[in-house]
Amino acid sequence: PNMYGNEARLFRGKGYWLPEYLFTSGNVTKLEQFVCTEDDVLVASFPKSGSTWVQEVVYLLKNNLDEKKARKQNMEDRFPQLEYTIPGLAALEAEKGPRLLKTHLPYEMLPQNVQTEGKTKVIYIMRNPKDVCVSSYFYSRMHLFLNYQSDLAHYCSSFLSGRVNFGPWWDHMKSYWEHRYDPNILVITYEDMLQDPSKTIQSIASFLGKDLSTKQVARIAKYCSFDEMKKNPASNYSWWDKLGIRLPEEAEFLRSGKVGEWIEHLSNEQSAYIDKLCQMYLTPAGIEPQFEM
Ligand code: A3P
Repeated sequence: PNMYGNEARLFRGKGYWLPEYLFTSGNVTKLEQFVCTEDDVLVASFPKSGSTWVQEVVYLLKNNLDEKKARKQNMEDRFPQLEYTIPGLAALEAEKGPRLLKTHLPYEMLPQNVQTEGKTKVIYIMRNPKDVCVSSYFYSRMHLFLNYQSDLAHYCSSFLSGRVNFGPWWDHMKSYWEHRYDPNILVITYEDMLQDPSKTIQSIASFLGKDLSTKQVARIAKYCSFDEMKKNPASNYSWWDKLGIRLPEEAEFLRSGKVGEWIEHLSNEQSAYIDKLCQMYLTPAGIEPQFEM
């Protein structure tokens, strides 16, 4: 087995570490040439920042809050990942819009026309890097393609050096943050969403031009709550078990769903080092991650 599959399978592209199991360098150009329409919606994030929650909210908003329809297909089929090999760019190109697409690409690697025309709506989710580090450690152990077999200390040092999927996280966050005032970009945080789901749902809805009643917002909040999504087979990634992608003895995809859970896992030293990186890279840009609730 691959002792550190994650590290071995990364390649460099536009200043980021990119996972070969998702794409090859040839695909970076193909992704840039992919054309998005005004009706497409992209949900973008650094991995493990809460994109699944936002995808479910966006799916409901774009489908008249049809929960029955949402339960019929798994999230990856309803809301595919742009850079993933399944279904792949050719299939996505052929799809009649409006397309709902997830992506972990940094802003600079988004399809060129999203960047130059600024018409495709992009929702970017930020989450504090300590919880992201812990969440992605458990995820990397659980995911058979990543096949991570070392411990948190080792994972954390890779995370801090930026050498993890789509890293460094600080460049990723800055790449979208710089565009937070663009009319087609909405930046939200995982922490805000957990603290006040209704408020975040409202801001996503108004960004997508949807008017919601208080009752409708409450319905979406309930349907997309951690507990509901964890038991919903169309959102909880249990289909991975059937595909043999998840190692059953490791954590589930919807694992803990908290703000500040890193306290139970990171050492004082690791935590202090992340604070230092934040001061160096994020504070000057005006980004203040929220580490506790
Ligand atoms: P944890 O590992 O900390 O639990 P992504 O969807 O971008 O891959 O991020 C996954 C993280 O978001 C996981 O964090 C997961 O549990 C959490 N998450 C997924 N759905 C959620 C929901 N409905 N509410 C809160 N957290 C959720």
